[in-house]
Amino acid sequence: MSGQKSTSERIVISFSQRRPWRAARFAIGPFRSGTLLRMPNLGRLMYGVMYRVGFTPWDGHVLPSRLQPLAAELGKGKALDIGCGTGDTSILLAKLGWEVLAIDFVERALESAGKKAAAAGVTVRFLRADATKLRSYGVSGGFTLLCDNGCMHGPSDEQRDAYVREVSAVAASGARLLLVAFLPGKRRGPRGISRNEVERCFSSSWELFDSGPDFTSRAGETLQFYELRRR
Ligand SMILES: C[S@@+](CC[C@H](N)C(=O)[O-])C[C@H]1O[C@@H](n2cnc3c(N)ncnc32)[C@H](O)[C@@H]1O
Repeated sequence: MSGQKSTSERIVISFSQRRPWRAARFAIGPFRSGTLLRMPNLGRLMYGVMYRVGFTPWDGHVLPSRLQPLAAELGKGKALDIGCGTGDTSILLAKLGWEVLAIDFVERALESAGKKAAAAGVTVRFLRADATKLRSYGVSGGFTLLCDNGCMHGPSDEQRDAYVREVSAVAASGARLLLVAFLPGKRRGPRGISRNEVERCFSSSWELFDSGPDFTSRAGETLQFYELRRR
């Protein structure tokens, strides 16, 4: 599934194998300003390098406190984990009886996620896909629960609009989306997303009906949850 690597990916990968810490610094620098995450393809390259050098500060964070109550409230059905990383949300949902499709655009994250799901004894379908082009990967509708822990808060406005278009197209009527994200204004890392920006992005086909602080990252920054319902 990994496909052909571009020249720049091959250079970074070979560099990371010889001098992992220098490669990590190389990877972290642009991420701290969040700039690369906002550029199409470079966001994917950036995350790819971060997984490759093992700089994944989000990995293994506590899961959003809203997740389990929401999954229980909705019962069982089809769930989509958007930007699943190494799969903790997907695995929890599969344990609760959901049929889960987990997508991420980094192969290495999906490999770890697949191993974790196998060790947990649950079935999750993992797919390498870009959330801004979901339908072009054959993802079709019917999801009643959609989760995004830390995916949408990075990219540019244009990519966010593409993300919303695609996610809206595969969500069932009445579906719920639990979006967990940093607020804007952090000195480093993803640019974050405010309640107003969530409303701007989703207003045409979703109702934002709850939001507030959820869990705190290892760096001590609180992430917000946004709960939306598909019209
Ligand atoms: C901050 S990590 C969070 C991972 C996971 N959700 C978690 O809570 O641990 C963001 C993840 O989203 C993925 N991602 C970012 N933009 C994406 C996109 N447009 N399509 C698919 N995956 C994306 C990254 O590869 C990364 O694994």
